[in-house]
Amino acid sequence: MYYPDELIEEIRSRNDVVDIISGYVRLQKKGNSYFGLCPFHNEKSPSFSVSPGKQMYYCFGCGAGGNVITFLMKYENMGFSEAIKSLADRAGVSLPEPEYSEEMKRKENKRQRLFAVNKEAARYFYYQLRAPQGKPGLEYLSGRQLSEETMKQFGLGFANVTSNDLVQYLKSKGFEEQDIIDAGLASMDERYGLHDKFWNRVMFPIQDANHRVIGFGGRVMGDGKPKYLNSPETLIFDKSRNLYGLNFARTSRAKNIILCEGYMDVIAMHQAGFNQAVASLGTAFTSGQAGLLRRYADTVILAYDSDGAGVNAAMRAIGILKEVGLPGKVLDMKPYKDPDEFIKNLGKEAFQERIDNAENSFFFEIRILQQSFDMDDPGSATNFHREIAKKLCQFEEEVERNNYLQAVAKRFQIDPDSLKKLVVSYAAKTGGVKPIERPKSLTAHEGQKKNTPEENIKKSQRLLLTWLVEEPETYGQIKKYISTEDFTEELYRKVAEILFASLEKGEMNPASIISMFEDEETQQQVAELFNTKVVSLNTKEEKENAFHDIVYAVKKNSFEYYSARLGTDLTAIDQVIQAKKALEELSKTHISL
Ligand code: UTP
Ligand code: MN
Repeated sequence: MYYPDELIEEIRSRNDVVDIISGYVRLQKKGNSYFGLCPFHNEKSPSFSVSPGKQMYYCFGCGAGGNVITFLMKYENMGFSEAIKSLADRAGVSLPEPEYSEEMKRKENKRQRLFAVNKEAARYFYYQLRAPQGKPGLEYLSGRQLSEETMKQFGLGFANVTSNDLVQYLKSKGFEEQDIIDAGLASMDERYGLHDKFWNRVMFPIQDANHRVIGFGGRVMGDGKPKYLNSPETLIFDKSRNLYGLNFARTSRAKNIILCEGYMDVIAMHQAGFNQAVASLGTAFTSGQAGLLRRYADTVILAYDSDGAGVNAAMRAIGILKEVGLPGKVLDMKPYKDPDEFIKNLGKEAFQERIDNAENSFFFEIRILQQSFDMDDPGSATNFHREIAKKLCQFEEEVERNNYLQAVAKRFQIDPDSLKKLVVSYAAKTGGVKPIERPKSLTAHEGQKKNTPEENIKKSQRLLLTWLVEEPETYGQIKKYISTEDFTEELYRKVAEILFASLEKGEMNPASIISMFEDEETQQQVAELFNTKVVSLNTKEEKENAFHDIVYAVKKNSFEYYSARLGTDLTAIDQVIQAKKALEELSKTHISL
């Protein structure tokens, strides 16, 4: 931990969880809690709850949960200390210099130096483009109809014909050779020594979401190969987690994000006013990037090239968007190849029309699929219908599936009843309607946990912890029978120790416990510990029975757990004796609440 616990707690408690989250999610009050649509998975009815009392959020649909720090880490993709910094800022708390380990300090310093090298290089290229020697670059870019203003906004530049002037310049500015190499701007060659990676190209600086230059793409001014040369991945340049143009697109007011293939496409779209355009970085679209987009948009419009490769890439991207629960649409660019050419030829109004008429990704997939079937051949046509049925099975919700079924049947003139039969038969064969596979972190929630004995035991322990948090007055009853040793799951025991200690002092503050754990995954698990519920307890009696059963189950597991460790674990014998006694007593006691 880089900040003292008390400081973290002060910052956390000065940022109300409802205040912060309602800046991102529309919340409605219901009883003691607020509810809204979960920002971490795709849903139509709200199962995302924010509790002002617990100062926590929890999604009963996907299991995402935590305190205000976890929320920022997850939603804004921040690290722990980054989230702390941001919350301290909002609350006007000043932070001391964090205490990093030597190793982390070294790494952080290196990162900062790589940012600095890239920034200086971008400046240099920018200047060269506007100097006499940059004339060919400027002519090339103007020839592609980019305005002065656009070139400035994207920081476009020029790498000279000479092959080591950037290195010379950076060294004159005091940068170390090793940092220049590690930033991917130069490499060491036995014959030529240290030499620039980019020369005689127009330069596109690649920025992260916070406008920091993290790498470059350089284009030849003509037909040379390779057309684009890109910086390699470095300590600060992760191609699977950044997108070209995102630094501008993230603050665009548009509800959608336009995803395209090329740097020039992004720039052309922004110049035409479509400032929600982004592109991947010379590599295929990844689920990391999809996760990033989910934070800024509720639909992604694919504006990939209209050629075969573009269509294949779009099909892949649709699958990836589905994984993160982000609806996709496909923009028809015909008769042009890419957004840049389209806008040049038909203008922005026509492009806006194409956006408005973008095709739902399901129909796009079906339409492309159809091309590989001969519709005049009854056998082949049937196979096509089977494929449609298979795709329809991806819709989990019946209403949605039916709507698509009706629509697709109409569009392809298929009898809806026969299509329905195909869906049923496919579902029967494969064991039901197949939900789309979501990334693991989204599915690890209560509803989908297996009903194994281990899981049931863990659940009892979670239930007990939740009970303590929600009704701290039961602590007096619980501590008669239960000690922290009874929580046999390591993380649960740690949490129980903290919880019991604060209850001894008459305090209860679950959100502060969460931020004692630094990684998001653990914070989420702790949040789950405080949000495990027994369904429908109406009468006092039902409640008391449930309570008794949970205490009993936890104790019984503890007895078995320590019995199995007799002889190897010194504390086991005490635990076993004590648990046996408690179990006997519990079996003849009624606990009243
Ligand atoms: P395109 O070949 O479609 O180029 O590559 P473009 O973006 O339309 O560029 P112009 O209009 O011809 O200038 C799409 C993207 O693929 C990556 C780049 O990110 C490019 O923007 N790419 C392409 C490379 O990284 N290297 C290459 O040699 C070609
Ligand atoms: Mn192009």
